[in-house]
Amino acid sequence: MTDWRPQAAHTAVAAIEPKLRALFGDSEKQWRRFRSRLATESERLFALAHSLYGWRWDFAWQYEAFLVSAATAAAGRSKWLRRKDKRADHSWMTSPETLWGQCYVDRFAKDFEGLAEATPHLEDLGLTHLHLMPPYLTPPLNSDGGYAVSDYRRFRPELGSEKDFRKTIRRLDDSGIGVILDFVANHTADDHPWAEAAKRGLGGFRDYYLIFDDRVEPDRYAGHLREIFPDRGGDAFTWRSDIEGPNGGAWVWTTFHEFQWDLDYRNPGVFTAMLGELLYLVNLGAAVIRMDATPFLWKSPGTDCENQPEAHTLLQLFNGLVGLVAPSVRLLSEAVVHPDNVAAFVRADECHLGYNPLVMSSMWEALASGDTRLLQAALQRQRSRPEGCQWVTYLRCHDDIGWGFADEDALAIGLDPSQHRAYLNSFYSGEFAGSFSTGRRFQDNPRTGDSRISGRMASLAGLESALEIGGDAVDAAVARILMLNAVMLTSVGIPLIYLGDEIAQLNDESYELDERLAGDNRWMHRGKFPKARLKSAKAGSGPEGAVYSGMSRLLEIRKRHSAFAGSLPHLLDTGDARLLAFQRRSGPDIVTVVANFSSETVDSSLELDGSWHEAWSGAEYTGEVGAIDPYGFLLLTQSASDS
Ligand code: GLC
Repeated sequence: MTDWRPQAAHTAVAAIEPKLRALFGDSEKQWRRFRSRLATESERLFALAHSLYGWRWDFAWQYEAFLVSAATAAAGRSKWLRRKDKRADHSWMTSPETLWGQCYVDRFAKDFEGLAEATPHLEDLGLTHLHLMPPYLTPPLNSDGGYAVSDYRRFRPELGSEKDFRKTIRRLDDSGIGVILDFVANHTADDHPWAEAAKRGLGGFRDYYLIFDDRVEPDRYAGHLREIFPDRGGDAFTWRSDIEGPNGGAWVWTTFHEFQWDLDYRNPGVFTAMLGELLYLVNLGAAVIRMDATPFLWKSPGTDCENQPEAHTLLQLFNGLVGLVAPSVRLLSEAVVHPDNVAAFVRADECHLGYNPLVMSSMWEALASGDTRLLQAALQRQRSRPEGCQWVTYLRCHDDIGWGFADEDALAIGLDPSQHRAYLNSFYSGEFAGSFSTGRRFQDNPRTGDSRISGRMASLAGLESALEIGGDAVDAAVARILMLNAVMLTSVGIPLIYLGDEIAQLNDESYELDERLAGDNRWMHRGKFPKARLKSAKAGSGPEGAVYSGMSRLLEIRKRHSAFAGSLPHLLDTGDARLLAFQRRSGPDIVTVVANFSSETVDSSLELDGSWHEAWSGAEYTGEVGAIDPYGFLLLTQSASDS
């Protein structure tokens, strides 16, 4: 028996081929390229779309709209970007030279023009990609740092015009820096034109969102949902009296803040509309698209409405359609959920790249407990990675730190998961006696006892408190910062630097004076980039100088070793849980990393065959690795040709 699907897929395409062809006008070559990609992908795309929307009487018409949107974008792709697509080569994903950065345009460099002028610093660091926090239009008061989007096609006026943006992206491209842009797929701001139309019940826009006249439907879901921002009081639904309805208002689904309205992807019109916005960003010249909040895209009654199979199908459909338009572009998943669910989004046919919140939070966990067993379990979980995919590893970003280790990993080493999380929150908020950290609790939830942590890397690692004490305390903080970075840069995936961390930028409390920001303490780690500090760091003075030159050296070492080119870490037994040791290799190039997460000197029982060159200090090693300083680390390198 033949499967009906391939045939249906081909029939669907054949029926609209003339319409698609017409969109390309006299660009015969572009059309042929698009058609050949479509021929390869057509069955997969059709099956994905059918599994989400095949139950609808108008499915054929909806599917046509998806393809028309893709063809329109493909026909409108600029020459510059078509050249990139033609030589699309994704080997950068496993190159040791690849280095990502992240910044807010306004906080880092005032505006797009300022960002172009700041390129030399990005070049000095050796960045290959830069994530610009969402620069799109937002409501004037509530923006959630850009994640409440009022219009995906307009920039915030204070950053500059679209022309300025295009100029800056080309300037960065000239320096070999690709731009990463956010696709905030789960929600729009409550003043987005679609939301405004929904409020007035215009033209089917109410069906773009999950809007309910009464609590009957919301209450069917509510009991199953996790509280993402508990500060707002435990309900994912918001009553809005400005939505027209028989009850003088309506409830709207708002997973994050009250002003971020979740989109309803059960409506294929929403998919088509959002696909248009996504492809617009792709055609602006983004090298990578960050798919924000992937777990939340699909709601199913009776579930927690996270990580639903349909959310994966949806992302696969986005992936396939982006592939038709822009094969050079890669998608990055942002999922901060159970490690197994984080991994599920990272697939070559879904999101090629995935943030690694598990390794991130486990590095901080190990630093607070002086015990690397959970970090080892986290690295163990990275042992397999789908072909063509890569992790993005970081220490800090614009968000808080949540303690995302798997409960089963904690239980396996005799830790009570919730008590351990309580300890970590108390440690990093500085409440725990003897803690060096000056972070703050974020979204403390007295009902569940959950909390997360805000704070800059240097402050969390103790630099802020050490500067008050002075002397050895400062050296210890710098040692912690460099050790964490050594592990981050060498353990797994593409490293990401949250700009400012390379010069040990500290917490910034000034957000408390701004009423738009005061309610969200994540702004304490989103302070303005301190230019004067960069100057003193480059001059080699103070702890910022030590961190800057140390990180520059670590980056140089990383670049020289093909062992970091995508190989996975192989854990080694050191005989002491305070130490982390792993090996990475590529052909003859082998690197063994040993790091001490504790404040004591630790003797390692690790023995290595042959002779090794320690790249950080320049010392030579044979046999026993021996004692490692408090918060010290070794980068032992060997290449077969040396031995
Ligand atoms: C992502 C962003 C976070 C934002 C949320 C809602 O998790 O990283 O900053 O609050 O999405 O869009």
